[in-house]
Amino acid sequence: MKLGLIGYGNIAGSLLGVLAGQGFKAERLDVLARPGAEARAHDKLAPEGRAISDTFAVHASVEELIASGPDLVVEVATHVAVKESLIPCLRAGIDGVLVSVGALADAATEAALTAAAKEGGALLRIVPGAVGGIDMLAAARLSGGLEVTYTSRKPPLAWTGTPAEAKLDLATLDKAEVFYEGSARQAATDYPKNANVAATIALAGAGFEDTRVRMIADPEAPGNVHEYTVRSNALDFTIRLEGKPSPDNPKTSLSTVYSVARDILNAAGPVAI
Ligand SMILES: NC(=O)c1ccc[n+]([C@@H]2O[C@H](COP(=O)([O-])OP(=O)(O)OC[C@H]3O[C@@H](n4cnc5c(N)ncnc54)[C@H](O)[C@@H]3O)[C@@H](O)[C@H]2O)c1
Repeated sequence: MKLGLIGYGNIAGSLLGVLAGQGFKAERLDVLARPGAEARAHDKLAPEGRAISDTFAVHASVEELIASGPDLVVEVATHVAVKESLIPCLRAGIDGVLVSVGALADAATEAALTAAAKEGGALLRIVPGAVGGIDMLAAARLSGGLEVTYTSRKPPLAWTGTPAEAKLDLATLDKAEVFYEGSARQAATDYPKNANVAATIALAGAGFEDTRVRMIADPEAPGNVHEYTVRSNALDFTIRLEGKPSPDNPKTSLSTVYSVARDILNAAGPVAI
């Protein structure tokens, strides 16, 4: 496989470490960095990058990335990079994996991604990332009668820097408080840093308007807890996932790293699960 990576942050670094640890080999590994950051990206990713491929290169433009001829491009960057870089790759016929799923809460971005994949004859895969059970949620949707409620529960201070600050005194909160209830669209728009899971559940299930979201600041929360309940004509289920921080960097969403690694290993074959 010729693998392309858009982004060189926390997830990108950990992802290459996981892939190298699994003995994954690529014919080429090409990374897109922001202009001016090529040397930094190269220094950061080279040890694992070289373990994965003898041909490891960092590029500063999406045109160069496309010219390197990847079979698959994995976006682990930002909402802006989804628009500026992933869309041209899809249009050029390169399959894509999308990790910044919150970007699709913007209906225009979702439409542009779909149109680009169609135009290029490429496949855009949306990874489950930090959340699980997405296979059965997407299957249940086909049976109809879907009702989905997603609850995001975190320790109070984990909500610092979000609109929760204006609703609660996060520093002194001593019991669990629901501070947001509404649609997945509004949740992803008002809380962009927490948008990925709400957007993934909405896209797999009942859509952005009909997926209900609750956000809770909870002093007892063991970490970043995702819970959602599904009712449908085929089955009902509830799933709860407790993410664990990376020992190297608490900002890295470990479950997301492993979820993306799984997607790449599945794409490489010979068996996908
Ligand atoms: N789907 C999920 O469940 C899930 C979970 C966690 C994070 N995410 C998303 O994954 C993305 C990456 O997360 P992270 O923790 O690695 O973030 P990060 O901030 O550590 O890294 C992002 C990297 O992308 C680079 N970048 C920015 N614009 C770029 C561009 N135009 N071209 C190339 N590179 C560019 C930045 O310089 C940075 O190195 C974020 O959008 C985050 O919201 C998704």
